[in-house]
Amino acid sequence: MAIVINVNGRIAHGTSATIPVLDHGFLYGEGVYEVCRTYHGHPLLFDRHMRRMRNSAGMIALPVPFTDAEALDVVNQTLAAAGLATPATPGHEAYVRLLLTRGVGELSYDAAACSEPSVVVIVRPHAEPEAHIYELGVRVSLVPIVRNHPLSLNPLIKSNNLLNNALAMQHALQHGAFEAVMRNLRGEIAECSQSNLFVVKGGSAFTPPVDAGLLAGITREFLFDVAQEIGVPMAESVMRDEDLLGADEAFLTSTTREVVPIVLVDERRIGAGRPGPVTRALLEGFRRRADLLTAGGGRQQG
Ligand SMILES: Cc1ncc(COP(=O)(O)O)c(C=O)c1O
Repeated sequence: MAIVINVNGRIAHGTSATIPVLDHGFLYGEGVYEVCRTYHGHPLLFDRHMRRMRNSAGMIALPVPFTDAEALDVVNQTLAAAGLATPATPGHEAYVRLLLTRGVGELSYDAAACSEPSVVVIVRPHAEPEAHIYELGVRVSLVPIVRNHPLSLNPLIKSNNLLNNALAMQHALQHGAFEAVMRNLRGEIAECSQSNLFVVKGGSAFTPPVDAGLLAGITREFLFDVAQEIGVPMAESVMRDEDLLGADEAFLTSTTREVVPIVLVDERRIGAGRPGPVTRALLEGFRRRADLLTAGGGRQQG
């Protein structure tokens, strides 16, 4: 099953969808986006993703031209066109990327140059990370590329301008790592190129505070609920290299990857060098709760 792309209501199968060159999303990276994935054919935590999209859009003064219900309709139409609205095979789920750009306008930074935002939905089958990633854990790399300073380009904006993230990830890939861990200008750990970072010490889980300059991940937020449910103490805490390298366990979180154990940071082993019990419990708790929220039709999410 291939990719399906909806551009301003026009649905195209395959990679033929186009966006005008004068769209400021293309010209200047001016736009915001969200990535959801489905469980039982329903986007998990769609309301939270929409809340974040409105927040991101507000931070660049971009009007959001749809209600949450209208956005869900467009997503569902695109899922249906891709044959992914009601997955025939259990576990056959969808990746959904919803993008909103400033739209087409003159070659000018003036926001008034664009009259109408563009709305794009990209849907494709969700590529489940390979099982060994969860069973054995992954190696990440501490990269020299610093996360954008919040006063420069606030990482709280889930922006289509992803050069900072791409450069960090490309550095990690060159070093054979699964993810890039980025610090802020103060040298504190912020987050990864496309996920949030957690460590476990003495049975409690810690993640850098939003003040460190990071994207407030929906999985990160949801995991606080899961942790409370299963009795794992979890808190935000300023984190430096030694906190990561000296952790009992570490893991990263994202919508498409859920909870991935980290067992190596460059050449340094974390804890026992295998996924730890707290990470495993949080992954299981996450999956259980995601399943419960979506199994009955996905309406009771919060
Ligand atoms: C920079 C960054 N941090 C964190 C995340 C994780 O966010 P979420 O859990 O909402 O997928 C992402 C997701 O793409 C990201 O790009």
